[in-house]
Amino acid sequence: MKKINLVYGTVNGEAEFVTREVAEQFAADGVDHRLVECDELAGWVPPEDEILLVICSSTGYGDLPDEIYPWFLELQESAYLPNLEYGLIGLGDSSYEIFNGAIVQFEELFAGFGASALKPTLKLDAAINYAPEKDAKEWLSSIIS
Ligand SMILES: Cc1cc2nc3c(=O)[nH]c(=O)nc-3n(C[C@H](O)[C@H](O)[C@H](O)COP(=O)(O)O)c2cc1C
Repeated sequence: MKKINLVYGTVNGEAEFVTREVAEQFAADGVDHRLVECDELAGWVPPEDEILLVICSSTGYGDLPDEIYPWFLELQESAYLPNLEYGLIGLGDSSYEIFNGAIVQFEELFAGFGASALKPTLKLDAAINYAPEKDAKEWLSSIIS
C-alpha cells in the first residue's frame, strides 16, 4: 500500500478535526501516512508515487479556505501530476448556493492534470452528515482495503 499524504483546508476547524481523526485511524491501522500541516504546504508538491488525500471545507461563495488557497494556486500555476492518485473529501452545506465549491475546484485541478481519482469525491453536507469523521472513515475504508 502506498503512503497517503493528508492535506486539509479549514475555516472553523471541522475539516481539520476530520483529518486528524482519519490520521489517528491510519496510525491505529498501521497505514503509512503523513499529515501535511498548512504551514508546510508552501512549495510542497505531492509525490506521484504516493497517494494524496485532500479534506477541504468551502467558504464564501464556494471558495477555498485562506490557508490552503495559496497552495492550490501554486499547483494550478506550476504543477503537472498525471500519475498522481488522489482522493477528495469536501465539507460543505447544501443551504449554500455553490455546494462544496472548494472541493469541486480541486476536482477540476486534478482532472486537468490527468491524475486518477481513487473513487468519486465524497461531498459531505453539514445539514445531513452530523458525524463527518465517521463518513470520511467509511468512505476511506475501501481505499485502504
Ligand atoms: C461564512 C460561511 C460560508 C460558507 N460557504 C459555503 C459554500 O459556499 N458552499 C458550501 O457548500 N458550504 C459553505 N459553508 C459551509 C461550510 O463549508 C461547512 O459548514 C463546513 O463543515 C465547515 O468546515 P470548517 O469548519 O472546516 O471550515 C460556509 C460556511 C460559512 C460559515
